[in-house]
Amino acid sequence: MSSSDTAKVPIVEYCPPSSFATDMKVLKHMWFAKIVPGQSQQDRLESFYKHQADLYDSYRFRMLHARMPMIKAMPLPPKGKGVWLDIGGGTGSNLEYFAENLNHFAKVMVLDLCPSLAAQAEERVKRHPGWSSFVQVIVADACDEKAVSLPPAGSVDVITFSYALSMIPDWKAALANAKRLLKKGGHLCVCDFTVDETQGWGMQTMWSKIFASDHVYLRAEHRPFLREQFKAVHDELGFGTFPYVPPVMRAPWYVFVGQKV
Ligand SMILES: C[S@@+](CC[C@H](N)C(=O)[O-])C[C@H]1O[C@@H](n2cnc3c(N)ncnc32)[C@H](O)[C@@H]1O
Repeated sequence: MSSSDTAKVPIVEYCPPSSFATDMKVLKHMWFAKIVPGQSQQDRLESFYKHQADLYDSYRFRMLHARMPMIKAMPLPPKGKGVWLDIGGGTGSNLEYFAENLNHFAKVMVLDLCPSLAAQAEERVKRHPGWSSFVQVIVADACDEKAVSLPPAGSVDVITFSYALSMIPDWKAALANAKRLLKKGGHLCVCDFTVDETQGWGMQTMWSKIFASDHVYLRAEHRPFLREQFKAVHDELGFGTFPYVPPVMRAPWYVFVGQKV
């Protein structure tokens, strides 16, 4: 399967409702829900997300600008045949972009280490009639090759990491696990924040510090590493704004789609 001969499905923009009050609640938890050092990655994620899990989508869709281009660039297997694994899938919001056409896939799995976000994904599956017969939510570490409920090695058509790689401490282990799970010819799709040399040292440092306070670690090595590990079929860089932040303050994002050869 190459990106030029994949199936096509209409993609729907997902814009959940929000208000000034819900935004302020999310921002309070983004800024002040600090991690207690020494906890496990799961405890750290839970302490950060547990009080904002129900409002996660309503705020984030206005700052995670690379999600739509990634979904649009995602190579799709033939209808009814493919397996999609969304790693670090959080609330499962990526699934909404396929709406009633999600059953294009034979099986969809959302894997996340954070129980509060995975619970939101479970709720989402229940809200969509029919999804529960082919969508599964797995609470596991992206790096864990032995996680219960993982599909067999070499069986997955498409794996996505949307804004997750920058939050996974051993991101190379997570990518190795994903590559192991992918079929030969299957595709890895990643979108995330990054640092870009065109920004200059000051902006790179500023964004890196701001994101680190939210447990997101911007790494320039992601893109070259992905190009080394997979045959690139889509490689894009863009800049995006944030709600309540002057639009001159834009942070770089990337989308990478690569094939396992
Ligand atoms: C910024 S959120 C992105 C969530 C979702 N993919 C999205 O686009 O909205 C990062 C996600 O990575 C998950 N995560 C972080 N470390 C993880 C790990 N080691 N294994 C699995 N998921 C992890 C977090 O729980 C969180 O859901």
